[in-house]
Amino acid sequence: MPLIDLQGATAGYGAGTRIRIMAGHLRSLVRRLTPARFLNVMKAEGNRVLGRTRINSMPFFLKIESSGLCNLGCRWCTGSRTERARGERQRTRMSLERFQEIIDETGKYLFRVNLYGFGEPLLFPETLDMIRYCSHRNISVVVSSNMNIRQDDLAEGILGSGLEQLIFSCHGTSGKTVKEFMGPEAEPDLAFENVRRVVLEKRRQRSRYPIVSWQFCITGFNQHEMEEARKIAAGLGVNEIRFIKPWFPPDAGREWHSSLFPERSVMKGERRSRGCAWPWRGAYISCDSGVLPCCREELFVRNDYGNLSETGFREIWNGTSFVKSRKLIGNPGGYIPETPVICRNCPELGFPPAVPEWEKE
Ligand SMILES: C[S@@+](CC[C@H](N)C(=O)[O-])C[C@H]1O[C@@H](n2cnc3c(N)ncnc32)[C@H](O)[C@@H]1O
Repeated sequence: MPLIDLQGATAGYGAGTRIRIMAGHLRSLVRRLTPARFLNVMKAEGNRVLGRTRINSMPFFLKIESSGLCNLGCRWCTGSRTERARGERQRTRMSLERFQEIIDETGKYLFRVNLYGFGEPLLFPETLDMIRYCSHRNISVVVSSNMNIRQDDLAEGILGSGLEQLIFSCHGTSGKTVKEFMGPEAEPDLAFENVRRVVLEKRRQRSRYPIVSWQFCITGFNQHEMEEARKIAAGLGVNEIRFIKPWFPPDAGREWHSSLFPERSVMKGERRSRGCAWPWRGAYISCDSGVLPCCREELFVRNDYGNLSETGFREIWNGTSFVKSRKLIGNPGGYIPETPVICRNCPELGFPPAVPEWEKE
């Protein structure tokens, strides 16, 4: 029987990290509450609890990939692959106009936009314009960045955009480990300097935001640097450092396994469903405007539930694929084999893994 890793893509190290991540969502919710948003959340949660599949609520959270292009080459990241297999999504960047269309259609109900996917959002100035567009509409924005950016006024630009949270990805403290994870181009000193400038600019402007969260993916080869990372984090003055378990394929080398996480490879079908709320609460929009229920399996364009260059968001949100996903999640036992939606492959729902489309070819 094949072994697969049934753990989610990322997992916080310890309850503290998980609570802080949840608290971030709660902060956006409280900061951005309006009667329309409150009513929409109530409707969305009601629809979810009642198992409705065609719904009268809109997402209150979106993850939007402003850039699918990256300056670094993190191991295992689909965004940094230079070679594309047939059918794989081309890495591009979203236009400001497309982004504005999305926000114009959904913004009334949104508390929060996570403005990153598999590329580097701060590579392009449009990202700051996108954040500003949301801030002016009372929507929280979170960006995750490697901060390997050479731009003198980056800190001022970030502060001026109204960004709520900056997740700073740096998976080590020394050049050796950071390059091993993030590729030979990665420069931790440049990233630390940029983060330091953001913190100084926050102090200068007496601003609480953006909350700066250093995200450190723990592996076997960098876990010895965790203590050093805590010290550097304190010196930089970031709000928090959070350690997480990265995603890597089951056949990755031993060095990717950290002793801090149990090896979670379990027999297929062993885990019971934990359910999923995404298709009632949010959606993922890729750099080329493809819409999916979440960022798992976004690699192939054929997995898209629709594309915003052809169809409006509302139509996709209550289109055949979203409805099928909600049906599947509401009743995993009643699963119909020919249901061709990506939720069918989701280990979070406790399904034995289907053979991925790309392996059938
Ligand atoms: C793919 S990155 C892209 C955004 C940006 N370029 C960055 O580095 O933060 C999105 C998120 O995934 C996290 N990440 C990076 N490598 C990962 C891995 N192997 N498994 C899980 N998450 C990872 C990063 O810390 C980041 O928060």
